[in-house]
Amino acid sequence: MNANGNAFLSRLETTAKDIEELLDRLLSAAPETGEISRPDRILEAMRYASLGGGKRFRPFLVVECAALFDVPRANALMAGAALECVHCYSLVHDDLPAMDNDALRRGQPTVHKAFDEATAILVGDGLLTLAFDILSRQETHPDAAVRIELVKELARASGLGGMVGGQLLDLAAEGRFAPNGPLDLGERGVARLQAMKTGALLLFACTAGGILGSAGPVQRRALERYGSAVGQAFQIADDLLDLEGDPALVGKSIGKDAVAGKATMVGALGVTGAKARLRELVAEAEGALASFGSAAAILVEGAHFVADRHN
Ligand code: IPE
Ligand code: IPE
Ligand code: MG
Ligand code: MG
Ligand code: MG
Repeated sequence: MNANGNAFLSRLETTAKDIEELLDRLLSAAPETGEISRPDRILEAMRYASLGGGKRFRPFLVVECAALFDVPRANALMAGAALECVHCYSLVHDDLPAMDNDALRRGQPTVHKAFDEATAILVGDGLLTLAFDILSRQETHPDAAVRIELVKELARASGLGGMVGGQLLDLAAEGRFAPNGPLDLGERGVARLQAMKTGALLLFACTAGGILGSAGPVQRRALERYGSAVGQAFQIADDLLDLEGDPALVGKSIGKDAVAGKATMVGALGVTGAKARLRELVAEAEGALASFGSAAAILVEGAHFVADRHN
């Protein structure tokens, strides 16, 4: 690994540690003002779903994109923690028997296995609502207009026109709601599905940095291009890991996408084609940041990490 790669890993680790501490505090036993109580079982399950694992790559993107505009780190970490709550909720629901029916996540039993299905559904609901509670707080940004913009963008990235809509398309492509089996979406259809189910939250991570830093339109456009390329690359790498990953490193069951009839970029382009597309997207991500110069070196490394990762 080159020097930039080592710097990347150490900054990813630092942000992961900071996010872990922050989520631990946000999910402490004491109720916040306006809450009545925090029942033990749901609190324990929400902590199980969100602490002690995960790459924390989305918060890393928020922090590093915000750093381009000298945003105080504490503000960026709050927005990153909110996004990580939505991400963890999406994983808990994605793993449910009614969806991907997975037993392993981050090297541990999934939430519905460790607890039960009803608790897992409520964990998702609780993490999603907590995300917007976090964004509404003064600690996230002193300017209420900035906080409202974050709320709006995260809602749109997460909801029916973003992650939730993409998850629906993912299940539809398996042929669940149609009598004739799996749908053939083609490369464009798969790209759209993936931009929604996975790309939207990664794009939000980058947009959030620009919102926190009151970036101008040209800089925002650059962050959007970067975030969109990284978002696409992220799911293609995930599809490849399902096929070729080392189960000991991936921390989740692999080899399931083809059996389930999932629409993946490997299915649309083949393994060689998907890898070539991944390389193109890394170059696109790198190119999008050119105007930031060396200030964005860590984000360039981030794009390489997405493509080369083993988990
Ligand atoms: C997995 O996301 C789900 C996808 C969107 C592909 P990550 O690979 O970021 O999972 P964690 O957070 O590191 O466990
Ligand atoms: C995940 O896609 C997208 C989400 C919104 C969670 P996958 O279903 O491929 O993610 P993994 O492989 O279970 O992590
Ligand atoms: Mg899924
Ligand atoms: Mg899944
Ligand atoms: Mg997957």
